[in-house]
Amino acid sequence: MRNKIIVLCFAIGVFCFSCETQTYEHGKLLYTNFCENCHMADGTGLKGLIPPLAGADFLKNSPEAVPCIIRAGYKGKMTVNGKEYDTEMAGIERLTEFEITNIINYIHTSWGNNLPIVQHPDVREQLKACEKNTKPF
Ligand code: HEC
Repeated sequence: MRNKIIVLCFAIGVFCFSCETQTYEHGKLLYTNFCENCHMADGTGLKGLIPPLAGADFLKNSPEAVPCIIRAGYKGKMTVNGKEYDTEMAGIERLTEFEITNIINYIHTSWGNNLPIVQHPDVREQLKACEKNTKPF
């Protein structure tokens, strides 16, 4: 009996681990396809034009704005790590709530970023507010 429990725990552990890895890989793939052109593979952006995602204080300070920025884009001034940017980011409307969640979690755990994992229901709520055309932040 005890052995069975140990085997079961192990199986669940491996299962959960592979889910997380898949989510990360999925986020990474989406990042490569939809974000990397501008924010760069290492998340450093483009000096003076495109803000970084690696080490960006924006992600820490305004996490609730991020899903809406991804879906609807952003036009206007924004300050990231003390530097001002004023280049328009076009929204990427075709990304689903799940895809946006996975991208954010990839960004939150890459390039030395150590930010909390976001949950799909929260992202969904933030996107609802975005659809009502609320200003992202
Ligand atoms: C065509 C270029 C382009 C693409 C593609 C792009 N972005 Fe952006 N992004 C920008 C620019 C430019 C800004 C700053 C907007 C401003 O100055 O108002 C920005 C701002 C941001 C911000 C807020 C500031 C920061 O650095 O934390 C986040 C978060 C972000 N983008 C995430 C993403 C994600 C995730 C993707 C892919 C799904 C993506 N962007 C795709 C150009 C782009």
